Amino acid sequence: MLNIALPKGRLGEKVYGMFERAGFDCPAIREENRKLYFENEALGLRYFWVKPSDVAIYVERGAADIGVAGKDILLEYAPDVYELLDLNVGRCRMCVAGPKDFSDDLSKTLRVATKFTSIASDYYASLGRDIDVIPLNGSIELAPILGLSDVIVDIVETGTTLKENNLAVLETIVPISARLIANKSSFVFYRPRIEELTRRLSQEVKP
Ligand code: PRP
Repeated sequence: MLNIALPKGRLGEKVYGMFERAGFDCPAIREENRKLYFENEALGLRYFWVKPSDVAIYVERGAADIGVAGKDILLEYAPDVYELLDLNVGRCRMCVAGPKDFSDDLSKTLRVATKFTSIASDYYASLGRDIDVIPLNGSIELAPILGLSDVIVDIVETGTTLKENNLAVLETIVPISARLIANKSSFVFYRPRIEELTRRLSQEVKP
């Protein structure tokens, strides 16, 4: 069995559709229930749904041979996995955002609230800017509104959350999309299968 970790949710369903069209279907996955793993014995495939931010851990530790993870997670946690293919779905960007009229006072340490502490630290280190990272788990947009931080580093997809909270993108750090990743040992062990899967999936990637 090739174990495949998919991110639970709307993105995962889109991604599974790509696997299905590429010939790696698993009809059981379409049944309405709360099961978390599904097998197609004939094709030797086992899919399972995991929290999107956990896919990389399953793959890095070999519980999954391959999986689909956002580039944000790969940049933040730098898991020791192979990145095989950009699926060009789940597209968004990692940004610095803050009040529309924000201007950085270089005489002060910049307070940055974020879920992505490594990405924020690396970004500001590359600029030589001193920051105080304020780690949060959600509703990051509240931080500058309540004076907890000066700016935030967060994912922007449509921009609606920022707009509705009177914030704006100040800088784009990096574009993000979903990536096919593989465990390093699994890649050696199942190389022909994984390469064939990658090749067929790449034909489902829309520009
Ligand atoms: C993300 C992100 C923003 C929002 C951006 O949050 O943290 O809050 O999406 O999307 P938009 O530009 O389309 O408005 P998510 O919904 O993933 O939830 P989270 O707060 O748990 O991170």
